[in-house]
Amino acid sequence: MGKEVSMDTLVNLAKRRGFIFAGSEIYGGLANSWDYGPLGVELKNNIKKAWWKKFVQMRQDVVGLDAAVIMNPKVWEASGHVATFHDPLVECKYCHARFREDKIDATKPCEACGDKSGFTEPKQFNLMFKTHLGPSQESGTEVYLRPETAQAMFVDFAQVQASSRKKIPFGIAQIGRAFRNEITPGNYIFRTREFEQMEIEYFIKESDWKEQFENWLKLMHEWLVDCGITLEKIHDLEVLKEDRAHYSSRTVDIEFDFPFGRGELYGLAYRSDFDLKNHQDSSGKDLSYTDPVTNEKYIPHVIEPTFGVDRTILAVLVSAYKEEEVDGEMRTVLSLPAHLAPYQVAVLPLMKKEELTEEARKITEELSNYMAVEYDETQSIGKRYRRQDEIGTPYCVTIDYDSLEDNAVTVRDRDTMKQERIAITELKKYLVEKISL
Ligand code: GAP
Repeated sequence: MGKEVSMDTLVNLAKRRGFIFAGSEIYGGLANSWDYGPLGVELKNNIKKAWWKKFVQMRQDVVGLDAAVIMNPKVWEASGHVATFHDPLVECKYCHARFREDKIDATKPCEACGDKSGFTEPKQFNLMFKTHLGPSQESGTEVYLRPETAQAMFVDFAQVQASSRKKIPFGIAQIGRAFRNEITPGNYIFRTREFEQMEIEYFIKESDWKEQFENWLKLMHEWLVDCGITLEKIHDLEVLKEDRAHYSSRTVDIEFDFPFGRGELYGLAYRSDFDLKNHQDSSGKDLSYTDPVTNEKYIPHVIEPTFGVDRTILAVLVSAYKEEEVDGEMRTVLSLPAHLAPYQVAVLPLMKKEELTEEARKITEELSNYMAVEYDETQSIGKRYRRQDEIGTPYCVTIDYDSLEDNAVTVRDRDTMKQERIAITELKKYLVEKISL
């Protein structure tokens, strides 16, 4: 493992290079909200694309869904979220700052004001954001922003199963925003009130749950490898019954050693038939499945692998960050896997001379059909290499005066800094092979 990156270093780099910065900053920001800038949105999209490819497109047993964020409020009653999606909230008796009881040591002074008056008794605080549908603010119009993407996969189970003709075992996957009115958001993009999830509800026969659970745990680990996440920083935590979500009969949290400490990156839960059964009882609609071979009719059980997009980004950045000395100078490198990098290739004319820039622009245009390319003709070549290293671009293509004679370019590898001369006619093939997963 290399040198540990501090949160300050990472946050500064991400801001300076346009990955992530504070939301609504010109108004002083808003309670730990973050915006993804030009490079951040590319990284985020690449993560979501890779996840969708691995877990939906490359599998015959998983189909996708893109459901509404605002669902009928009865969904959240049946799912148990109205009654139990709470965190225990305590208040400093002196300054009234609010904290999650399980995240502070109540015997110590208040973290906000340092006073020792102590804290109020814990109150249960529901984490769902409420809003109103339409112009009236009356009680009948109250709805929630979804706190997890999962429920749509249960509510739409019968529709999706019938139209896709999938047989059990099969899964429904969704990527989308979730909202939680966290008492204490913080640690950068780790805990925010608006975030994205990538979730699969995998419908099975009850008797298969243990085998399927182990199988999905393996697949989640495979995904971590695909993302270049440092496995030494990964820990599987068997969650105790009293700490599990209300719907779960078994949970393993996949934790990561973030710079601020160990925290949940992903979760794998055995949700049994809890959700489908509750929705069937509550809606009166049949959500059972009939086995086409045996004619056995049953409510499927569910294994749920869940992945936070924002926490993935944080773990990917922490894992990719490196500082090393080269020829007496420090260089910062984001060793992102090529398929996740915001740009896979930078095209750099050696000098800003028309003969070179013209050829470089032609190459940029051609390569852009196949990969994300940045064209850069500013500053010295050394500075441009350093910039690309710092934003994680795996390959730089340099066009020099020899290129105009020999129709070849220099390709520099971000990690090894080795340079290879490649014929322009071979360049696309060479790079496509290098950058594919
Ligand atoms: N459907 C199951 C579910 O929502 P969860 O453990 O509450 O389970 C799943 O959330 C994942 O969503 C977490 O593992 C984490 O990656 C991400 N997540 C949860 N709360 C978050 C928050 N406040 N900010 C950012 N990501 C969050």
